[in-house]
Amino acid sequence: MIIPAFFIADMSTTEFIKSLYQNNDLAKREIDLIICHVLGINTAALFIYAKDISQSQQHNILNFIQQRNDGKPLAYITGFKEFWTLNLKVNQYTLIPRPETEQIVELMLQWTDNKFTGTLLDLGTGTGAIALSIAQQRPNAKITATDISHECIKVAQYNQHKYSLTNINIFQSNWFESIGNDKFNYIISNPPYIAENNKHLKHLKHEPVTALIAQENGLADLFHIIQQAKKHLNNHGTILLEHGFNQHKEIQEYLNQNCYYNIKTHKDLAGISRITTAQYEIPNLN
Ligand SMILES: C[S@@+](CC[C@H](N)C(=O)[O-])C[C@H]1O[C@@H](n2cnc3c(N)ncnc32)[C@H](O)[C@@H]1O
Repeated sequence: MIIPAFFIADMSTTEFIKSLYQNNDLAKREIDLIICHVLGINTAALFIYAKDISQSQQHNILNFIQQRNDGKPLAYITGFKEFWTLNLKVNQYTLIPRPETEQIVELMLQWTDNKFTGTLLDLGTGTGAIALSIAQQRPNAKITATDISHECIKVAQYNQHKYSLTNINIFQSNWFESIGNDKFNYIISNPPYIAENNKHLKHLKHEPVTALIAQENGLADLFHIIQQAKKHLNNHGTILLEHGFNQHKEIQEYLNQNCYYNIKTHKDLAGISRITTAQYEIPNLN
């Protein structure tokens, strides 16, 4: 950030905003979002209310722009992230929902219609992004969403109340531990899947490691979910898992070893293998 704070006192609001656009590398939209966050308005109102920004607001804007220039994700500054049709609260305890995860929601909407009355479990829900998006689009579905983190549960429940969604139950659980004997038509998860030694982790230093890292080269949680889901899927129920771009072969193999069928990996728009789905038939023991 180039503008020294002591210059602010001599600037009009218009000069201040102009200097923000001119004097740093952030995209104009990001600067607008930071200004709106400090003023407590939405971007549509920016040019009505941004005529008179107080000095303390200007200092806050500069401070947030500095944090953004230092690499803090915009969502952790504004406290919100858009996902599917929702604008979700996020904080330092939650992963910022990624656009590529929207593909899980897309698949679910393709496979069900709006009369769908079945059950769905979202494991490791974070902000509630996947579960809440489906809950909104499939109002008769019965959805359960869990996370090991109490802080994530508070955020997901905040987002649930923000959108008045009553067809979803959100609570704390270490994977399936607090699910009891419940069974579901769909079990969905975007679990931690990054290996501890992955070089990209240094770019994710603001996000909670519990949301990112898994043992066994990133596969431990995925394998645990695949194994345990067999006890919690209805007959011919479906599992949908998000995973790393190079993990689909090992996941397919593990699903196969665990007697799942109809195993498919779905690529995202960039052609990257991102989601694997499969079904499970409960063995007939008679
Ligand atoms: C990659 S994040 C995904 C968050 C969210 N579903 C999304 O797609 O934006 C993984 C989530 O799994 C949760 N998690 C990690 N270990 C867990 C466990 N043992 N049981 C339940 N949830 C867990 C983390 O707290 C985190 O919210």
